[in-house]
Amino acid sequence: MDDICCRLFAWYDMHKRDLPWRSTRNPYYIWISEVILQQTRVAQGYAYFVRFIALFPTVEALADAPEDAVMRAWQGLGYYSRARNLHAAAKQIVKLGRFPDTYEAIRQLKGVGDYTAAAIASFAFDEPKAAVDGNVCRVWSRVFGIDCPIDSVRGKRVVAEIAQELLPDSQAAKYNQAVMEFGALQCTPHSPSCVDCPLADKCVALAEGKVDMLPSKSHKTKVIPRYLTYLYMHNAGSLLLHKRTGNDIWQNLYELPLIETDVAIDADKLFLHPDFLAWKKIVPHYTYKGFTGGIKHVLSHRVLHATFHELEVWGELSCPDGYVMVPFSELSHYALPRLVERYMQEKSGQW
Ligand code: ADE
Repeated sequence: MDDICCRLFAWYDMHKRDLPWRSTRNPYYIWISEVILQQTRVAQGYAYFVRFIALFPTVEALADAPEDAVMRAWQGLGYYSRARNLHAAAKQIVKLGRFPDTYEAIRQLKGVGDYTAAAIASFAFDEPKAAVDGNVCRVWSRVFGIDCPIDSVRGKRVVAEIAQELLPDSQAAKYNQAVMEFGALQCTPHSPSCVDCPLADKCVALAEGKVDMLPSKSHKTKVIPRYLTYLYMHNAGSLLLHKRTGNDIWQNLYELPLIETDVAIDADKLFLHPDFLAWKKIVPHYTYKGFTGGIKHVLSHRVLHATFHELEVWGELSCPDGYVMVPFSELSHYALPRLVERYMQEKSGQW
């Protein structure tokens, strides 16, 4: 085994965290944990993993669950396409009759990319495939001083080749876990612990004073603002919700009736907006209770500027297609985007 690998394994034996997906070979558990951990820190992902497995203990249970229940279990984690893909892939697996057991077959599942396929294939089936995530990219780009941007095709290829080269054939699972853990705990994005690093004497970035500069990125993600005006419309103890569809954020989650604009609008502009005028036809009798909140919510590529206006509706409300009246006592059955949930929580003192 390569010297770097030996040192990494010794470090891992000393420092590894005891995490539930590390003490199993069940590919279903491993798959769920990897998808949760793709964009989520272990500290937050842990509780979601435990709850998700309790709700859907097998791939069959997940495949059979209503989509709303899966989305609800995911509420608060963000990147909801992960939950939709998990559900679709669970159906694919049930159709196959068993969990696929090779990298190539796992890679065919909906939502499973190179990293997740390599993680499942190595952790559950010991296939010698290097799994390369953000942690792994950081470790190897620093140790080997790779300054080619890791968000470029070439940068990704160079790191993937090094990661694969270093992988000891017989211990793929331990190797992948060890590099990831090393990136998460020792070779961290900011203020890594170089003074007690077992790879310090091998680290090109450290020798060249480039630790803070690596891994390098070619372009920063452009963050686009969006302006959302939500109508908090209630009637006799029920709230009007809308199920989002379309190829956009929060697909299949429930939110309040929304008017989206290119710039921020106040109440006066809202009252003249064509979508608001259309609502007045559906809901002719209401009391406008006022502007009841403003929230700035940051997603990876978007900054959402949301305002909320409360309308108490009088008389019968016939819901347009895609809308439902939900009693406040049943709101917890609906998966809401974190932004809407934040508003509800602020408001809940008033119920
Ligand atoms: N991040 C992604 N996969 C992980 C794993 N298996 N253990 C810890 N952190 C991770």
